[in-house]
Amino acid sequence: MTVTDTGTTTGPAPALVRLTDVSKFYGNIRALQGVSLEVSAGEITCVLGDNGAGKSTLIKIIAGLHRHDAGSFEIEGEETVLANPRAALDHGIATVYQDLAVVPLMPVWRNFFLGSEPTRGRGPLRRLDVELMRRTTRTELLRMGIDLRDVDQPIGTLSGGERQCVAIARAVHFGAKVLVLDEPTAALGVKQSGVVLKYVAAARDAGLGVVLITHNPHHAYLVGDRFVLLKRGTMAGSHTRDSITLDELTRQMAGGSELDELSHELERVAESGSDSTPPSTPPGPGTPSGTTAP
Ligand SMILES: Nc1ncnc2c1ncn2[C@@H]1O[C@H](COP(=O)(O)OP(=O)(O)OP(=O)(O)O)[C@@H](O)[C@H]1O
Ligand SMILES: [Mg+2]
Repeated sequence: MTVTDTGTTTGPAPALVRLTDVSKFYGNIRALQGVSLEVSAGEITCVLGDNGAGKSTLIKIIAGLHRHDAGSFEIEGEETVLANPRAALDHGIATVYQDLAVVPLMPVWRNFFLGSEPTRGRGPLRRLDVELMRRTTRTELLRMGIDLRDVDQPIGTLSGGERQCVAIARAVHFGAKVLVLDEPTAALGVKQSGVVLKYVAAARDAGLGVVLITHNPHHAYLVGDRFVLLKRGTMAGSHTRDSITLDELTRQMAGGSELDELSHELERVAESGSDSTPPSTPPGPGTPSGTTAP
């Protein structure tokens, strides 16, 4: 990526995005309450949480799709209210949704430039600059280390992981400062997840601030600098990489203190098994860790 000529800044730059005590209600359903998060250039902030924890709501606020009801939202140190997703893009915030807005039958290069096609010629002679788009797509993908056999193939023929990678390369090319990824590895196998995480790291190395939403503490810990844990719309933890281990992160994701309590209770049940007194609160049918009811 290009190196800026203003590399001699003094003092730490403000975070690219900082949410402080943000809340969001849908009618009287509280989707988020008192959530804080920040992401700086060249960093990956992971947002972890189970189904319904509020992860998508959080990124919809950052992406300009929803407004927060309370708290502050700063972009590069300035309090900002985003009117719509276009406004977020204008601030350099690019969001890649899990269902990726692509046109499957169109070639990779066409999807790469979708909505921002370069043209050549003027007036009635104006037409799409196909050669430029092909060439740029190929070089931009290569720059990220993605070697596609053929940028003319329909994007629908790429694997899910490859499509995520193209979307990431696209955000980098169009000058995003902040890249928001909603569960980019959720539908992928181990190997493809690894490939996608490699490009997430490449986007960070290109100087972007990345917000990575995931269910998977292992994926988060592979690349993350900061970790925000959400639980039923509230903050269940906020850690930097050097303040938490993978084991602890996994434990907190899996229920943390609730699991501890359950295991103590189970021990008590086992100990009192020989006594005739039954436990005051029999443990419910425990769900295996890492799985939740929908
Ligand atoms: N448009 C909406 N109207 C009403 N309630 C909503 C709306 N969107 C989300 N919710 C509720 O807000 C809460 C948080 O939802 P959200 O989609 O942010 O969770 P999530 O962490 O992304 O979950 P998942 O892992 O299942 O995608 C849930 O209880 C959900 O039912
Ligand atoms: Mg979601």
